[in-house]
Amino acid sequence: MKRVPLGILGSGKGSNCRAIFESIKSGALAAEVRVVISDVFDAPILDIAREFSVPNAYLPPGRFHTRLEPQAEADLLRMLREAGVELVVLAGFMRILKSPMLEAFTRRIVNIHPSLLPKFPGLEAWKQALVAGEKMTGCTVHYVDEQIDHGDIIAQSEVPILPNDTPESLHARIQIAEHELYPTAIGQICRKLSAG
Ligand code: GRF
Repeated sequence: MKRVPLGILGSGKGSNCRAIFESIKSGALAAEVRVVISDVFDAPILDIAREFSVPNAYLPPGRFHTRLEPQAEADLLRMLREAGVELVVLAGFMRILKSPMLEAFTRRIVNIHPSLLPKFPGLEAWKQALVAGEKMTGCTVHYVDEQIDHGDIIAQSEVPILPNDTPESLHARIQIAEHELYPTAIGQICRKLSAG
């Protein structure tokens, strides 16, 4: 089967990126990571890419905090195109993507979020679920659109909230679920893409 070329974007520790690399290595995920790009110069996700000998790059984001400067977004698009990327995978990428990227990769940008969307979009979603007194939360893989943590849902996995959970313990269990869910969901999308 054709290996779908992926581009992974992340700003942080990259545990989901590692899960994707491991799933590819084990043969479970028919994809190939062409490039890992981070808006954070020393983000661990770039070290993980180096560990797996995957091309990687730092993208200077410009002067904004929540999005890329237009030139940076144009550079990002160019880098992804040069690498032949067909599916963009956000793995803890902390900036909102705008129209040039969204238009170039319509329904070809996916994200994972640590809640059962549409509940609790935004930051520290696990803490939001805990504070709201929920009994169940989880994680969601979804297509990316112009709104934050929004867009058609591809897959979800539930994680129960235990009586003695702290934000840290809950977040850790959600991440374990993410590492299972994200490669599986990407696999489903890749199968659809290769089937045309
Ligand atoms: C994940 O919890 C994901 O849900 C959110 O950002 C976090 C990234 O974690 N979008 P990591 O960098 O993959 O460890």
